[in-house]
Order: sequence, then C-alpha cells, then structure tokens
Amino acid sequence: MSSTIAVIGATGFVGCHLVPHLVTNGHRVIAISRDGRRLPEWTDAVEARAGDVTKQNLDAAVAGADAVVHLAAIARETGGRTFDEVNVEGTRRAVAAAERAGVRRFVHLSALGVIDDPKLDFLYSKWQAEEIVRASPLDWVMLRPSLLFGEGDGFFNLIKVTLKWWSPGVVAIPGKGDAKFQPLSVDDLAMAIEQSVTDSGRARSVYELGGPEWLTYREIVDAVSDTTGMRRLKLGMPIPIISALTAVTDKVLPIFPVSHDQISSLQRPNYTELDAFERTFGVKPKPIDLSYLKAA
Ligand SMILES: NC(=O)c1ccc[n+]([C@@H]2O[C@H](COP(=O)([O-])OP(=O)(O)OC[C@H]3O[C@@H](n4cnc5c(N)ncnc54)[C@H](OP(=O)(O)O)[C@@H]3O)[C@@H](O)[C@H]2O)c1
Repeated sequence: MSSTIAVIGATGFVGCHLVPHLVTNGHRVIAISRDGRRLPEWTDAVEARAGDVTKQNLDAAVAGADAVVHLAAIARETGGRTFDEVNVEGTRRAVAAAERAGVRRFVHLSALGVIDDPKLDFLYSKWQAEEIVRASPLDWVMLRPSLLFGEGDGFFNLIKVTLKWWSPGVVAIPGKGDAKFQPLSVDDLAMAIEQSVTDSGRARSVYELGGPEWLTYREIVDAVSDTTGMRRLKLGMPIPIISALTAVTDKVLPIFPVSHDQISSLQRPNYTELDAFERTFGVKPKPIDLSYLKAA
C-alpha cells in the first residue's frame, strides 16, 4: 500500500538510497534535512522540507505523513554538535513530533552494538535513543544494521581516504585487526526500511541486520586496497596506544580519520547471525561490492 513517508535525514548516505527506493515503490516522500534542500535526482513525488531535530520546527516538517523514518544522527561529536543534542534529544523531538502529527509507524535507525554504558559515547547515545522510541506509544520498528556499504558511504570511503592521505606506505591497524563486522548493502537496508514501514505485523520489533559474511577490520582494509589498487603494509598498533593518540587528536586534530570513541567501540560486536537478514526480510543480502570506490 502506498503512503506518505517523512524521512528525517533524507539527504544523508542512507537517505540518498532510501528516498528513490520509496518513490519507485509508489510512495510519496517528505524529505527532511536541516536546510530543506532538494537533491537534483528527486522527482515530483518528493517534497523537500526543513526540519532540525535540535530545534522546535519538526511539527511542520512531518505534517501530513503516514509514517516517519528517523535517520538523523551523528557518528562523531564535531563542530559543537553533541551526541546528546542530536542523537538522544533529537530522537525525543522526532518521536514527539510524530505523536503530535498522529503518525503510527515510526522506523528508527539504530546500530549494532548499542549499549547502556556511558563510557561508549556514541553507542550509549544510540541506546538512549532506542529507549525513548521503545517508551513511546508509536508502532515503532527498530533496525540495528552493521556497517553499510554503497555509493557515498562513510566507512569504506573513509578507509580509502585513510589509505590515500594518512598512510604513506604503511597503514595502522587497531590491535590485531580482528574486530568483526558484517557489511550490509545500503540498497538491502532501503528494502528493509520500506518493509518496516508497510508491514503492520512488524510493530514493536527490533531487528539486528548484517550482510552475508563476517569480515575482520584487516580483511576490510584488504578489500579496499584491492579495489582501489592502493597497497599498503599493514602495521598492527596496540589498542592502548591508538586510544591514547586519539584522545589527543580528538582535541587538536578533529579531521583525524578515527575518534577516541570509535576506537573504544571496537570492543562491541558489530555482527549478528549470518542469516539474520534473509530470515527477517525473505531476501538474501548482497555480498560486499566496493567497486564504487574506484571512482576518483
Ligand atoms: N552509515 C552506516 O554505516 C550506518 C551503520 C549503522 C547505523 N547507521 C545509522 O543510520 C542512520 C543514517 O546514517 P547515515 O550514514 O545516512 O548518516 P549521514 O550520512 O551522516 O546522514 C545523516 C542525515 O541526518 C541529517 N541530520 C543531521 N543532523 C540533523 C539535525 N540536527 N536535524 C535534522 N537532520 C539532521 C543530515 O542532514 P543535513 O546535515 O543535511 O541536515 C543527513 O541527512 C543513522 O542513524 C546512523 O546511526 C548508519
């Protein structure tokens, strides 16, 4: 059944893949971002609106929607933006606006590894956001994906940038590089989000999602090296040393590729069962394909 879906965070990586997918499946989309900008590829089925989850202007942004997909979040605290303000209180405002608008279905993008532990800043903020969604009377659906790959992604492009600009000959690998991930295609996630919006039987469900294979950090670096042709010697760096280094770079060099909090988060599992996606959404997820990284 087609509906009008408000996507908060529509101009980000996931949003850029989700919005066309929703339109192709017959939905109208209210595409919300802070400045309300319209992407050139959006058709007339997409209405761009401004809405900032840190401000009080979300009611007008979600007005008329049958469902809300909440994507807006930050993965690092930079430029004065905090996890508490965007990820936690922003989710509280998104939930409240959905309730006031009479929306029932609220699809919330969380992440694998969320935890009720204030020492892990990002994962704790995502946990607190989940708690706000869980406590609401909405028909929520919570998705917890592993790393997402696809054109415009953050993680795999960051490894490419790290190899190119920060790793002359040698690339640092945190610890043994054996932290395990389960990369999922952003297009498979888009399909899962659409089903989560339309399938009434999914209300109040939490889904952990990953692709068809587990890959270690070391294997991911190899995959990016192989795809881009940027071969580097991999040098294992003890976690306490990277941890101490990033505690400093967070303060003096905010463009450093990884934050102290992201290094700490490596202790949390970023993978789930290999058949989790197919069991939940009835489709085999795509194997990892990084060919989009070949573009300059
Ligand atoms: N990418 C991954 O590998 C991955 C893995 C697991 C979970 N997730 C989750 O998936 C969701 C989407 O991630 P993503 O990779 O698409 O992130 P992204 O590329 O950083 O996009 C974030 C979006 O949120 C919007 N946004 C940021 N601050 C906002 C605010 N104050 N008010 C309204 N909108 C705001 C941004 O729009 P403007 O800045 O233009 O306003 C942008 O459209 C997040 O919740 C993330 O935690 C992502």
